[in-house]
Amino acid sequence: MARTKILIDCDPGHDDAVAILYAARQLDLLGLTTVHGNNTLERVTHNALSILALGGIDVPLAMGCATPLVAPMHPIAEAHGKTGLDGADLPAPRARPIAQHAVDFIIETARAHQGELVLAAIGPCTNVAMALKKEPRLAEWLREITVMGGSTTLGNIRAVAEFNIWCDPEAAAVVFDSGARIRMVGYNVTIATGTSAADIARLRQGGRVAGTIAGLLDFFLARGRAALGLQVAPMHDVCAIVPYVDETLLIYRHVNVAVETQGTHTRGMTICDLRTLTEEGMLTRAGRKPNAHVAIASDAPRLISGVVDTLLSYP
Ligand code: BDR
Ligand code: CA
Repeated sequence: MARTKILIDCDPGHDDAVAILYAARQLDLLGLTTVHGNNTLERVTHNALSILALGGIDVPLAMGCATPLVAPMHPIAEAHGKTGLDGADLPAPRARPIAQHAVDFIIETARAHQGELVLAAIGPCTNVAMALKKEPRLAEWLREITVMGGSTTLGNIRAVAEFNIWCDPEAAAVVFDSGARIRMVGYNVTIATGTSAADIARLRQGGRVAGTIAGLLDFFLARGRAALGLQVAPMHDVCAIVPYVDETLLIYRHVNVAVETQGTHTRGMTICDLRTLTEEGMLTRAGRKPNAHVAIASDAPRLISGVVDTLLSYP
């Protein structure tokens, strides 16, 4: 079967780095676009180019939005350290970003591969929202948008808000309201889908790519443990990519997702309506039409071992 064509909108970021390396090995990776998020746009772009150099991956990279749609710029994510990829020495970038803006690159790539392209949004949704606004046909052209973001339950950056959505809730609202086919995997699943110290030890035995990622994940695991008491380094972003390799790794429900843009304590929350509303309930209990397939569970051991194996397959 032909490999899924995928374009990744990212903000590396430890788990973004893993997602990029995984996608380049398992799927038809058509390019990367970068967005503010784990660090500044300049820094995450540098990091993305370094990861491409590390993996020997030759795909175009387009820089996108440096700030959220309307909110002021958020602080950088301390989970990824000062550089956004603390924990290992990475090769210097070998390529430069293309001249085209990420928003136009997304639109052009989707136009060229209508009905086939999966757009993976693994950072804040700013570029994706801008692209959907600029080209309303984009929602139809894309096979699917796969979002790492939000949660059906707890948050990470706030009690009920996950980082990517919290950084730019207005953009996330545009994406979920766009009518595009959406798959969402949130923190409710990714919190427990991560690499353990034993997985990282396995990576350390591998080649240059796996060994470098082991260093990065040591750092990421330590940060997650220090701030949130986590036992694994959550592989948030790759969870948005794995369904295109093996659709049995995550279980989804087709539900309505609304993004909270107002609340003092709830801004950035994704309200996932998991009620089993009947037709009558939809009418009497303010039901809204499903707009996303939302992950509710993962086969974490199998998912993570597939990711580790893929990283180990690099020379
Ligand atoms: C998300 O936030 C970022 O820090 C990660 O790269 C991931 O995309 C998890 O909340
Ligand atoms: Ca990310």
